[in-house]
Amino acid sequence: MSDGLQYNSLESLETLRKSALAEFEAIGTEADAENFRIKYLGKKGILSELKKSLGTMAPDQRAVFGAAVNSLSKDVEGKFKETPWQNKNAGSAADSGFDPTLPGFPFSSGSLHPLMKIRNEIRDIFITMGFSIAYGPEVESDYYNFQALNMPPFHPARDMQDTFYISDKTVLRTHTSPVQIRVMEKQKPPIRAIMPGRVYRNEEISARSYCLFHQIEGLYVDENVSFSDLKGTLLAFSRSFFDEKTHIKIRPSYFPFTEPSVEVDVECFLCKGKGCGICKYSGWLEILGAGMVHPNVFKYCGIDPEKYTGFAFGMGIERIALLKYGIDDIRLFYENDARFLKQF
Ligand code: DAH
Repeated sequence: MSDGLQYNSLESLETLRKSALAEFEAIGTEADAENFRIKYLGKKGILSELKKSLGTMAPDQRAVFGAAVNSLSKDVEGKFKETPWQNKNAGSAADSGFDPTLPGFPFSSGSLHPLMKIRNEIRDIFITMGFSIAYGPEVESDYYNFQALNMPPFHPARDMQDTFYISDKTVLRTHTSPVQIRVMEKQKPPIRAIMPGRVYRNEEISARSYCLFHQIEGLYVDENVSFSDLKGTLLAFSRSFFDEKTHIKIRPSYFPFTEPSVEVDVECFLCKGKGCGICKYSGWLEILGAGMVHPNVFKYCGIDPEKYTGFAFGMGIERIALLKYGIDDIRLFYENDARFLKQF
């Protein structure tokens, strides 16, 4: 822009001052303000050009003219700061479109999936009780998923779990219990481990069931491990996870890989056992299956059932998350809708 050059006398600077002030008074919108800024205060604006032109003047002329240009420039800048938009593009950085005075852009940070949060909480409780963590494959052989868990071919308990078959002898694991076998094959007692992971079942998808879900398996094997150790461990877990005063209820059940087998209910943490919608007015919530490791299972793993005893348990993470957060549809965990996930 060469506009600066046309203002080469003190009178012309006065004219410039007047027209700048008039334009300033006429500013009515943010766009007007921006135009004004660019025209007068921008890097290539009139005032900058004027300042540049000082370099070509004779020294005595420059002293007088320069002082007038500086005073005009200060006045226009001072005026411009009065506009409500001035902060938006303050300073020379505005010319690059970067405004260091704006507040930082709020990047939303990611968070753990609610299922992973619950898994971590459960895991940490068992770690403080001295359990280690073990993992096994999701594509599992029939042997580990069924046979070594005391479910030979045609055992009716195989029907309890709707299995996805990859081939005759390979399945998507239907539970985390096969990891027990893998741990016991590798480690000799004493064994204390939890085994978290994803499991699959060929169930119709609904608010209550999904084709995949997560479990945490637990296993404790040593000499003289008794049923009361199982009770104590599960009570300690429940009091740590749900409520320090909670009670648990142990009911007889059946699993092929434990004898005796039980299911464990925890006192409803919402109504404290009085009865509410979540516990279906029973006061209790079923949270896991458990029992004393069946001698046949020990035999499959090469552990002497005369010398060692142990307990095992398995719980569904989704179920506990649904209960803990009062969620009524398991499918929400898999839709990855940020509006849902952000709440945890
Ligand atoms: N695997 C069982 C299931 O998916 C849960 C289970 C029950 C695991 C009893 C255990 C156990 O370790 O002892 O339904």
